[in-house]
Amino acid sequence: MLRIGVFVLAVLVLAGLAGHAVAEDAVLEFARDGAVVRRLDRAALEKGCGVATVELEDPYYGRRMAYVACPLAKVLEMGFGEASQQLAAHDYLLRARDGYVKPATGRRLMEPGGGLALADARREKAGEAGWAPIDRKQVDPAPFYVVWSQPGQQDTNVYPWPYQLVRIEVGSIAAAYPEIVPRTAAAGSEAWRGFDTFKGECVACHAINGQGGKVGPELNVPQSIVEYRPAEQIKAYVYDPETFRHTSMPAHRHLTPAQLDELVAYFRAMSTLKRDPGRLP
Ligand code: HEC
Repeated sequence: MLRIGVFVLAVLVLAGLAGHAVAEDAVLEFARDGAVVRRLDRAALEKGCGVATVELEDPYYGRRMAYVACPLAKVLEMGFGEASQQLAAHDYLLRARDGYVKPATGRRLMEPGGGLALADARREKAGEAGWAPIDRKQVDPAPFYVVWSQPGQQDTNVYPWPYQLVRIEVGSIAAAYPEIVPRTAAAGSEAWRGFDTFKGECVACHAINGQGGKVGPELNVPQSIVEYRPAEQIKAYVYDPETFRHTSMPAHRHLTPAQLDELVAYFRAMSTLKRDPGRLP
């Protein structure tokens, strides 16, 4: 009788644990070449990442929030087991639960200010489970949410703020958008360096040959930007668009004159590699 009682108790405890594991199924996958190389759950992340509470202006909630968060650079280090210099040299694809993919350069992800939010600190302190619904669609941001805490990092087109994050992949933006690659330009040329800047600073908003962001205009087809605007004007515009018109295009005053020249060289190279998918759907 007693033995049966213990057995039943053990089953109940195991069932309880299993239920708990399902409810807490917050696992972040790290993948490379299509294969998962590591899986880290909240406990593992928290143990190794130097977790802290960070307060920041949240563009999706539209208010100041506090998160229990890991430094993003440390998360990449734990997931891929590489040093920061190597990590900064890759491109990444940040994959959400629903399949949404946000491309980001390693240079951007390794910038100070990036964090992986594990939980809403105020809710957790108040003993409330889970997250408040987020964004216009009012979805549950679980399991993980990429956040940025420094001033100037709140534009979600410039900094990746994916919620419902389930996987970080080392994967090239060029592979995801093959038609934006200046493939006929010489390796290491100005055009390729311009492409690097374009991937890091522009592709989130602008498409080339129909591939990339849709926030700003297509810049290559049917006419390339270098075919209807002089180079000096393009550079001045990219540097500080507000000097031309009131606009939602952000200024890029951190770009050097050489980087602006490289962007123009990239656009020139792409103007010889047109592939027009036709009008926007
Ligand atoms: C946050 C989104 C965003 C980012 C990032 C962005 N742009 Fe823009 N861009 C826009 C929008 C929106 C417009 C159109 C509105 C306007 O021109 O006032 C625009 C307009 C432009 C135009 C003018 C097009 C024309 O025909 O008048 C150029 C050139 C341009 N962007 C280049 C760039 C380059 C190069 C970068 C990266 C260094 C970049 N943009 C980054 C949103 C963005």
